[in-house]
Amino acid sequence: MSQGPYSDTVMDHFEHPRNMGEIEEADGMAQVGNPACGDVTRIFLKIENGRIVDVKFKTFGCAAAIASSSMTTELIKGKTIDEALALTNEVVARELGGLPEAKLHCSVMAEEALRAAIEDYKRKHGQQDNT
Ligand code: FES
Repeated sequence: MSQGPYSDTVMDHFEHPRNMGEIEEADGMAQVGNPACGDVTRIFLKIENGRIVDVKFKTFGCAAAIASSSMTTELIKGKTIDEALALTNEVVARELGGLPEAKLHCSVMAEEALRAAIEDYKRKHGQQDNT
């Protein structure tokens, strides 16, 4: 029953976003804006022993941006930092059943916010030995 430009999966994540919200005292947090439209995404990470044990997001943006953020959080929950860093917006768009060409830039925001949140974590926690 997909209508308009979006897949059913996009509409599902837009209407029922997973992991929406904030994490207080997050281990890593970042906010990035999309210069193309002025929309904003925030990602909050809880990290234990190099693994993302919890993740939440807040996105002020279009349906594609919200669905991409939601899918990103689902794909990285429980993953290691390195696995999360390997996630690209192409994978997110594919998992969403595709995005319209003109909306691909919206999925980049989630990837950038995730990377920035991991950088924030690394900055706060130094380059810890995993010994
Ligand atoms: Fe702004 Fe999609 S139009 S993120």
